[in-house]
Amino acid sequence: MAILVTGGAGFIGCNFVIDWLECIGEPVINLDKLTYAGNLQSLSALNSDNRHLFVNGDIGDSALLKLLLSKYSPRAVINFAAESHVDRSIHAPSEFIQTNVLGTFTLLEAIRGYWSELPEDERRLFRFLHVSTDEVYGSLLPGDPPFTETNAYEPNSPYSASKAASDHLVRAWHHTYGLPVLTTNCSNNYGPYHFPEKLIPLVILNALAGKPLPIYGDGQQVRDWLYVKDHCSAIRRVLEAGALGETYNVGGWNEKTNLEVVHTICAILDELQPRTDGESYAGQITFVQDRPGHDRRYAIDARKLERELGWKPAETFETGIRKTVQWYLDNQGWVHNVSSGNYREWVNQQYGI
Ligand code: NAD
Ligand code: DAU
Repeated sequence: MAILVTGGAGFIGCNFVIDWLECIGEPVINLDKLTYAGNLQSLSALNSDNRHLFVNGDIGDSALLKLLLSKYSPRAVINFAAESHVDRSIHAPSEFIQTNVLGTFTLLEAIRGYWSELPEDERRLFRFLHVSTDEVYGSLLPGDPPFTETNAYEPNSPYSASKAASDHLVRAWHHTYGLPVLTTNCSNNYGPYHFPEKLIPLVILNALAGKPLPIYGDGQQVRDWLYVKDHCSAIRRVLEAGALGETYNVGGWNEKTNLEVVHTICAILDELQPRTDGESYAGQITFVQDRPGHDRRYAIDARKLERELGWKPAETFETGIRKTVQWYLDNQGWVHNVSSGNYREWVNQQYGI
């Protein structure tokens, strides 16, 4: 028995693989293209763990997918692989269409071919879980109720449009071909191994480096933060017990404005690693030009997942953000390599890729 994980060298994927091996122990085939966001150093704790097999490759490579599926016969595939950064999608949308739309299509077709040839009992138990985002639902006004699974899709950025397209493909492959799919739509994650292009790790690292903490626009945009390990436990639960063809929203019930998030990080750093001049890190906050088309508010109603599958997040924002800041302080080697691009050289040296 094994599972195939795609994008398992990225932020959420690597946390998922590490937690999976710890909690479930079933072998993982980890297929990742190692884009700028993929980092094998995040998986270095598994270097001598023969339950983890890393494969450098693209979800858009149909021949490779067929080979992996027939060679390892996974009982499930979990698709994390994507281009994930909204700002990058605004500057260069092409890769987002390539991986998030065409890549998902190619993956679905390879899985359909594999699944349809499985013996009846294995075909019945097989699952494809697609990891998606709350951004597909668009933007909320201040008094609107949080997104439920029945909200209409109203994506506003090239990133969210590409994820919405992939969700529609997954849905269609279930309804048309009967593929046993599950989709999760999650809110903003944070925690260990988060690439420092995203708000929380960027602010922690810039603060420590004495750099400005850039706040887009007025900083009053709201995100609903979920500690990454809670996301991983939700995915495990949906994989285990989710109803076929269903979608499940995953969120942390932690709506915060960006400014609140940044002030909280500054206060924790003031306590754990005070500036040498005795001033608060909050003094580094700098308002910069807003993101084009910036969604004002996301919030997730995660009650379906709680009601039907009994999942609830374990962390509050206060506990999760403290753990996260501490992790970055304790893992300066990882931080240094990611920030300097050294991890690319390391991957080359270590793996010849
Ligand atoms: P990430 O950018 O940190 O990692 C993405 C990983 O996918 C990287 O390791 C990258 O090398 C790999 N990848 C990219 N293109 C690939 C391809 N064509 N073939 C194989 N591998 C490829 O992203 P993340 O934050 O870990 O997000 C993982 C998934 O979760 C994405 O699908 C994202 O849309 C979704 N999601 C993320 C968040 C969040 O807050 N980070 C929230 C909700 C949903
Ligand atoms: O909602 C889920 C989504 O969360 C995921 O689908 C995406 O993959 C993930 O990247 C994340 O998207 P966001 O755009 O919400 O995350 P980001 O960390 O880029 O930005 C969070 C908020 O902070 C957002 O309102 C923009 C703002 N921001 C971001 C950066 C990088 C700033 O104010 N300054 C910054 O420098």
